[in-house]
Amino acid sequence: MTPTVAPFPAARFRRARRTSALRALTQENALTPGDLIWPIFVRDGKGIEEPVGSMPGVMRRSVDKIAQAAKHAQSLGIPAICLFPYTDDSLKTEDCAEAWNPNNLSNQATRAIKDAAPDIAVMTDVALDPYNINGHDGFVEDDVIVNDRTVDALVKMTLAQAEAGADIIGPSDMMDGRIGAMRSALESEGHQNVMILSYAAKYASAYYGPFRDAVGASGALKGDKKTYQMNPANSDEAMRLIQRDLQEGADMVMVKPGMPYLDICRRVKDGFGVPTYAYQVSGEYAMIEAAAQNGWIDGERVMMESLMCFKRAGCDGVLSYFAPRVAEILANG
Ligand code: PBG
Repeated sequence: MTPTVAPFPAARFRRARRTSALRALTQENALTPGDLIWPIFVRDGKGIEEPVGSMPGVMRRSVDKIAQAAKHAQSLGIPAICLFPYTDDSLKTEDCAEAWNPNNLSNQATRAIKDAAPDIAVMTDVALDPYNINGHDGFVEDDVIVNDRTVDALVKMTLAQAEAGADIIGPSDMMDGRIGAMRSALESEGHQNVMILSYAAKYASAYYGPFRDAVGASGALKGDKKTYQMNPANSDEAMRLIQRDLQEGADMVMVKPGMPYLDICRRVKDGFGVPTYAYQVSGEYAMIEAAAQNGWIDGERVMMESLMCFKRAGCDGVLSYFAPRVAEILANG
């Protein structure tokens, strides 16, 4: 449909912007706490909230503190928490066995959240990087990140997470065929209702830098992730990936990073009409925080604007480190 636009002065667009009432009435999109997924970093110990240097305002929390954080999130109306473990180097191995340990940090945190805040949906991350001695999302053989053997491990990891009570499994590994393998394992092991949010369009991005610091993977990573994560120059490929992951049984899809990839969000939403999310990643967060701390931008307004723009681009929700701060502002009108 091509909208017809009356010529000036019949069309004076400023009429609709004159007062806050008229602006509210003509506003097309809205941001609510229900749109937010809050990523939280888990570490070992007790009573610990430790700041992440490269992400001012973000903490690594011990499991007891995560339970508290989950209660807070629930009271703010945030529907989901996504867990990322900061794994001690002594637990990183070549076979990544800690990834499917029923008692690893992520699984402990899942149970603690379910206990403390049963209304919160727990989302978990599926990829081997927190447990891998070389920092990659898959097994490395002769300098190659191997696909099919990695998928078998990801399935074990998925089942351990489902067993711990995860509501949404978030494969961020970018191996081929993992969604189908996970879906059939979940079906046959009695976890029919566990959702899969596929990080279908995950790009090999420099914006992940601060995250790798937060989970202690920056030192470990050998080489880059370009043989499995997508080329930032591509868009058609994202559509084909998403189509495949949906056919294999994904319930929802993620675009990652977020702000530089809003065109992908829009294509996905228009093309498939499925629940679509974006991950406003660590580098996006750090840039906004750094500029705000220098007094170069109004950090709070930029934060709110950045999240609203995801909604405008067609996202149903946003995974953002800003989630609790945004929810608090929304709660206070
Ligand atoms: C790895 C993973 C990464 C992020 C989430 N899961 C980093 C990577 O792919 O190296 C990045 C998130 C962020 O930057 O906030 N499975």
